[in-house]
Amino acid sequence: MAVLVTGGAGYIGSVTVDFLCARGEVVVVLDNLSRGHRKALNPKAIFYQGDVGNADLLARITTEYQVESCIHFAAVAYVGESVQDPRKYFENNVAQGIGLLGSLEKAGVARIVFSSSCATYGEPETLPIRETARQWPTNPYGWSKLLFERALLSYDQAYGIKFVALRYFNAAGATETLGEHHDPETHLIPNAIRTALGKQPELSVFGNTFPTRDGTAIRDYIHVSDLAEAHGRALDYLRDGNPSECLNLANGKGHSVLEVVECTRQVTGQQIRVRMEPPRAGDPAQLVADGSKAKDILDWVPTRSDLSYIVRSAWNWHDRYPKGYT
Ligand SMILES: NC(=O)c1ccc[n+]([C@@H]2O[C@H](COP(=O)([O-])OP(=O)(O)OC[C@H]3O[C@@H](n4cnc5c(N)ncnc54)[C@H](O)[C@@H]3O)[C@@H](O)[C@H]2O)c1
Repeated sequence: MAVLVTGGAGYIGSVTVDFLCARGEVVVVLDNLSRGHRKALNPKAIFYQGDVGNADLLARITTEYQVESCIHFAAVAYVGESVQDPRKYFENNVAQGIGLLGSLEKAGVARIVFSSSCATYGEPETLPIRETARQWPTNPYGWSKLLFERALLSYDQAYGIKFVALRYFNAAGATETLGEHHDPETHLIPNAIRTALGKQPELSVFGNTFPTRDGTAIRDYIHVSDLAEAHGRALDYLRDGNPSECLNLANGKGHSVLEVVECTRQVTGQQIRVRMEPPRAGDPAQLVADGSKAKDILDWVPTRSDLSYIVRSAWNWHDRYPKGYT
C-alpha cells in the first residue's frame, strides 16, 4: 500500500516526502517538474513525471502500487502570475485537480490531504484568522485553492472521500538537505538571503504604509519541517477513520517584512539593502492565524517556527547549496 504524493518534487512536497520515507511509508511521487526538482527527491521515493490530470497514468499508478491515500501538493502558486494569467491557475489547479479527484475516486482512494492556503481567506475581517473566518480570496490563485476545497467537500458528501485541507500560512526555512528553490523566487526569506549573498543588489519591499507597527506587511511564518510533520499527522488522522477537516497550519505569531529583514541581517551578518515599492494589488496588511484547531485535532504544535531558527536553517541551506538544485 502506498501514499501518492503529487507535487512531491516541489519545496514543501520534497520535505514531506523525506519525512514520510523516513517513517517507512511507501511513497509514489507524481510531479510534472514544471516547478520542481528531480534532485530534491528522496531516492527511496518512486517517481513518475507527469500531470495530475493524466487519467491513464493515474490509473496505472494507483493500481500498480495499491495507493491508499494521496497528499496533493501539485499546483502553480504565484499570486502575481495568477492575476496576469488566471487561465493557467484554473486549468492547472482546478481542472487538473478535479481530474485527479476523479481518478482517485475511480481507484477507490478515499483519503486526501490537500495543500490549501491562507490565500483562501483574502482580506481578513478579524485577527487572528480562524478556520471559520469568511473565505473570499483576492486573487485567482486563492480562488483556485478555495474551489478545490469546495470540490473536496462535495466529494466527501457524495462519495465518502475523506480529506484534510491544510491551509498553510507562509512556509519557510529548510532542512539540512532540502530547501526553497523557485525560479523566479517571490518569497521574502529566500529573497532576503539572496540579497545577503550578493546575488541581487537590493530587496524589494512592497508597501510601507500598511496599518502595522512599522508600515510593512505582517505574515505568519511556519517552518517547512513543521508542515511536513503535520501532513504525517493528517494522514494518520484519516487512516484512523476520522471525519474531514479544514485546518490552519501556522505559528500564530506575525512578523513584519522589516522584522524579517532585520532578523536576516543578524543571522547572516550581511548588509541587506531595501528598496521600497508600492504595495501589490490584493496584498492584505496582516495574515496571522489561530492555529489551535490543528493542535486539538492533530495534536500538532510547531516546534521549529521561531523566526531566527527559520532564517538560520534557510541560510545554512543556501550556504551549503549556493546554486540550489541546479
Ligand atoms: N509555499 C508556501 O508558502 C505555500 C503557502 C500556502 C499553500 N501552498 C501550497 O502548497 C503546495 C506546495 O507549495 P510549494 O511552495 O512547495 O510549491 P512548488 O512550486 O515548490 O511545488 C509544486 C510542485 O507541483 C508540481 N506541479 C505543478 N502543477 C502540476 C501538475 N499539474 N501535475 C503535476 N505536478 C505539478 C511542480 O512541478 C512543483 O514540483 C502548493 O499547492 C501551494 O499552493 C504553499
